[in-house]
Amino acid sequence: MSSKTTILTGLRVNNDLHIGNYLGALLPMIDLAKEHADDYQINLFVPDLHSFTTPIDHSRLQDAIFDTVSNYIALGLPIDHENVHVYRQSFIPAHSELALILSNFTGFGEMFRMTQFKEKGRSIVAQHQNTNIEPSDTHEVEDQSDTTIRKTEENGSVGLFNYPILMAADILLYNARYVPVGDDQTQHLEFTRDIAERINNKFEQELFVLPESVKHQHEFFGKDQGLRVRDLADPTKKMSKSDDTGKGVIFLSDNPEVARKKIMSATTDSYEDVQYDFDKRPGVSNLLDLYTLFGGSQHEFLGQVQYGPLKSAVADKIAAFLGEHQQMRSTVKQATVESHLQHSEQLMNQIANRHLYDVQRAIGLRR
Ligand code: TRP
Repeated sequence: MSSKTTILTGLRVNNDLHIGNYLGALLPMIDLAKEHADDYQINLFVPDLHSFTTPIDHSRLQDAIFDTVSNYIALGLPIDHENVHVYRQSFIPAHSELALILSNFTGFGEMFRMTQFKEKGRSIVAQHQNTNIEPSDTHEVEDQSDTTIRKTEENGSVGLFNYPILMAADILLYNARYVPVGDDQTQHLEFTRDIAERINNKFEQELFVLPESVKHQHEFFGKDQGLRVRDLADPTKKMSKSDDTGKGVIFLSDNPEVARKKIMSATTDSYEDVQYDFDKRPGVSNLLDLYTLFGGSQHEFLGQVQYGPLKSAVADKIAAFLGEHQQMRSTVKQATVESHLQHSEQLMNQIANRHLYDVQRAIGLRR
């Protein structure tokens, strides 16, 4: 099994999956597994230890994990294929140990330059750039602990700072060669290659397989990163679960009739006919894109004077999709998910521990 080339990626856990997630992340991953499972080992894991890098509702994490995995299964992930492994990061302790080891070969400045940290943790960067960070007295820490927790959540934790190191461990532990990720993750992938190469050179052996360069990854996956589903109410924005009203977002769990209403009241424009122009006419272009993505042919509507028929057609497609999906979703049992996860985790622990042992030996932790 492990002689096969490995394709690996993390499945973001997100309790409120919407059709933007479905089209941009879930569907491509499912298609990839279907297409390559005969020839590659496919590792799809839930990066649960990464869940805390930004504040979350901890009491919902378990439900979110099961919900995400169940959605993948309902949408056709070939989970029974012998080369497809779905597992939870925290159930394979070797991820954490390798991350701790890698952190000792990682420069502070190297992490500091990561854009994701800079964006999310911008204020902490600003705060500490001109300050000496001194440990406080114990009593002071006690008095301030509430404020400290709040500030950490607002400004970025060491966990957020370290995030790429754990991600590198996730990848290197399984010698993964192909790692499909969004463009926001390419810097982390480059870091993974750097740290692998650095350690291989230092210990003069091929301890880690380098994942392919981002360019080669794109060639392999034939990747078109153009997919951007937009908010129906405000089509200048990406569809995102953080939209507070939910009016412009279609969740996989939406009642099909509710979804239909959201589509019928989608914001369009006041030009005189239906034309595709992604930048100038975002609302109508988004509807045309959705129609195509859900299996229609947009040519039927180009040039039409009214927007109503296009909206109804998109609404029909999406309502039908939601109805079918929710039916499938209701047949996925929690016990089935649990047993798949456990089975994969047992196997992955064997692979991961064997590799971790080689690393431990190379760096002097084992004889
Ligand atoms: N950082 C990834 C994201 O936000 C998730 C992730 C964690 C991941 N570890 C990974 C992706 C390892 C690929 C490989 O999307």
